[in-house]
Amino acid sequence: MASTYVAGGDVEYGRYGNPTWTAFEEALGGLEGGRCLAFASGLAAVATIFDLVGNGQKVVAPRHAYLGSIMQLGDLELRERVKPTLVDITDTAAVVAACDDASLVWLESPTNPAMEVADIPTICEAAHAAGAYVVVDNTFATPILQQPLDLGADLVVHSVTKYISGHADALMGALVTRDDELYGVLKGRRDMYGAIPGTLEAWLALRGLRTLPLRMERAQANAQELVRRLGERADVSEVRYPGFGAIVGMVLPNGGIADLVQHGTALWVYATSLGGVESTLERRRRWKSEPATIPEGLIRLSVGIEDIEDLWDDLSQALDSAVG
Ligand SMILES: Cc1ncc(COP(=O)(O)O)c(C=O)c1O
Repeated sequence: MASTYVAGGDVEYGRYGNPTWTAFEEALGGLEGGRCLAFASGLAAVATIFDLVGNGQKVVAPRHAYLGSIMQLGDLELRERVKPTLVDITDTAAVVAACDDASLVWLESPTNPAMEVADIPTICEAAHAAGAYVVVDNTFATPILQQPLDLGADLVVHSVTKYISGHADALMGALVTRDDELYGVLKGRRDMYGAIPGTLEAWLALRGLRTLPLRMERAQANAQELVRRLGERADVSEVRYPGFGAIVGMVLPNGGIADLVQHGTALWVYATSLGGVESTLERRRRWKSEPATIPEGLIRLSVGIEDIEDLWDDLSQALDSAVG
């Protein structure tokens, strides 16, 4: 904990660096295979990237990217700063075609909460041929399951708030890149604009990171079993799951039933956010700005590390009473 340092050392002031950030950045950078910068939140990291786009330039992004990222693009469009083109990231040919005159291609894979997966290597190739940078929001997969820099991306962004930190007790973000020039520009922006994490948050995130592989393994195993069991229930219209990770989209016949389920659990916490050790759930369309292409009855399950039978007992009793 320090806001300033003895003059003449490596770091002069707390906005430019902190040994606890450095420890965290070395750990996450190592996992993603690049140099990492910690930020105040996921959206502070996202805003720092969008700020690099030249005036009037085109940004390609998934129509179902995280709402906050889409809202930033909408705000920038309104102010005629950038020209966003929203695409269906599962339609690789359409994404490749949209890359043509783009300056930035934003990917999120899987998407939040539609659970769509992008063909990252093919899109990176097309974007680079057009001279565009590619950013992948890797919040859902984490570097344990997917390493976008190895797939060709220039930058990885994380809401550290979620799996990386993992205990729903800290807000933080991060960027990772292998491009030293880009790293220098981004660090300069963080120094200048001050979207820096708190020392305590960095310490909590670093502590959380130590158990990331164990948490992901258990949460993913729980999610896969829940997907199997939910698939056997006639009252669940659709289960959206890309085959990896611990976020599941459970689509119920309508918003009314989904509301009853999200209020009807005891162990599962009705709350936004995701990626913590405790399981949470929420009907995403409760947020007015969530796109109409997300079904009214879609509940996003963030599966935690509890006992699978406890999770199933609680969820199935909530489903039974909502449809009964
Ligand atoms: C995929 C994804 N990216 C970015 C963010 C934003 O992160 P933060 O809430 O840490 O600002 C979120 C938050 O929900 C997210 O789910």
